Amino acid sequence: MTVTIIGSQLGDEGKGGTVDLYGEGADVVVRYQGGDNAGHTVVVGEETYELSLLPSGVVRGKTCVIGNGCVVNPETLFDELDALRERGLDPDVRVAERAHVIFPYHRRLDGIEEEDKDEEVGTTGRGIGPTYEDKAGRRGVRIGDLLDPEVLRTRLEYVVPQKCAVVEDVFGKEAGEELDVDDLYETYRTYGERLAEEEMTVNCGSYLQSRIDDGDEVLCEGAQGTLIDIDHGNYPFVTSSNPTAGGACTGTGLGPTEIGQGEIVGIVKGYATRVGSGPMPSELAGVEGDTPGYDGDAGEDEENLATYIRDEGGEYGTVTGRPRRVGWLDLPVLRHATRANGFTGIVVGHVDVLAGLDEVKIGVSYDLDGETIDAVPPTTEQWGRCEVDYRSFEGWPEVDWDAVASEGYEAIPENAREYLEFVESELETPLYAVGVGPGREETIVLENPVE
Ligand code: GDP
Ligand code: IMO
Ligand code: MG
Repeated sequence: MTVTIIGSQLGDEGKGGTVDLYGEGADVVVRYQGGDNAGHTVVVGEETYELSLLPSGVVRGKTCVIGNGCVVNPETLFDELDALRERGLDPDVRVAERAHVIFPYHRRLDGIEEEDKDEEVGTTGRGIGPTYEDKAGRRGVRIGDLLDPEVLRTRLEYVVPQKCAVVEDVFGKEAGEELDVDDLYETYRTYGERLAEEEMTVNCGSYLQSRIDDGDEVLCEGAQGTLIDIDHGNYPFVTSSNPTAGGACTGTGLGPTEIGQGEIVGIVKGYATRVGSGPMPSELAGVEGDTPGYDGDAGEDEENLATYIRDEGGEYGTVTGRPRRVGWLDLPVLRHATRANGFTGIVVGHVDVLAGLDEVKIGVSYDLDGETIDAVPPTTEQWGRCEVDYRSFEGWPEVDWDAVASEGYEAIPENAREYLEFVESELETPLYAVGVGPGREETIVLENPVE
């Protein structure tokens, strides 16, 4: 059977932690889209692991697969593997031969395009978009090609002059060593040799199907989130792949019936966060430079509230330290995600972060141009015009969350349970677990979908 873990909001919901939690009973963990743009955190006791490309199942020593729907930077792949080995883990990682390769020119073009845009997307700069563009444009290089030097050279000789022309003639920049065919060929051929030596490549779909046929449990790990899905997200402020459930089929090679017979678990952060630009109807105050049109005029109370949630949740960029945009939980977003993914269960985390507030709110519907709607509208401009109607809840106190986690669901403060049960009933989707802290043990499991 399969269990698919999917972000229901704008990324960073806590997918890595949930994969680690439910990963105990899994045999294989597979990433099905995205690349090293992800940042999945697994906290086990005193140890914190930040994974950008490898599936979070590596921490538990599970067989991990980077699926065909992913884009792979081999440099990150080997760096991440080596770093985990240095920390005493013994990762067993396979990479789909059909996955596409991120080259240095993809990263360069990612940066150039961002600079050139009037309204930046605020990408991670990892070359994700340009690599998926080449995949769709049928000029990409796949992991399997790295193992065949002749094919690799032929593909590079075709694509690199085109990239040079884009850099020089379209953007008026100078092409650097990232566009030297010989250099690229040598470096990437060597990556191919290492992949072959370590017997890391697999025919993803048939490999996974054979594991399932042998009775193994496969956990599919989504990256990013529904609202930054290229089809179902707030285009163009999106990533270039499908984090939504359909992506788990195309990105692994398992059929929709296989994925659909399994469980699809939506990961929900108990409030809203957003990195970078784009609409965020339930935002509290704003972050100058990121929140469209915000100039610090929200007023002291709202600023204080935003700062409280941001500080308690540690909502600052891991690399830049930049404050993340924060806001109230947004049900129209979650309804959109529940439908697009067909969630069979939800995990709601960060309940501890909201503790200590007098009042906690949930956005229950939107007013769009005078009409009440209960899910995200199709255009980003419409979403930007939505005004949120809130329902207010009494806050809950700060408690000993470790004790709550060991005692179980009934130990969660009553007002927090009311909050959780409201979300569960509005989404008509059962609550599978509640996160009350970042650690593996700080989760209350009501249902474990991985048998
Ligand atoms: P992902 O990208 O969806 O895997 O999520 P990230 O790892 O980027 O961000 C989630 C952050 O919240 C990480 O730092 C987690 O350790 C942390 N986290 C996860 N669940 C909880 C929770 O229930 N409470 C608190 N306080 N932190 C949590
Ligand atoms: P995890 O898996 C949050 C955002 C970027 C940018 C947009 C496009 O940790 O939840 P990209 O580099 O993918 O082309 O950037 O998507 N983004 C994420 N935001 N969490 C992520 O991953 C993200 N991955 C990409 O900030 O707005
Ligand atoms: Mg993250």
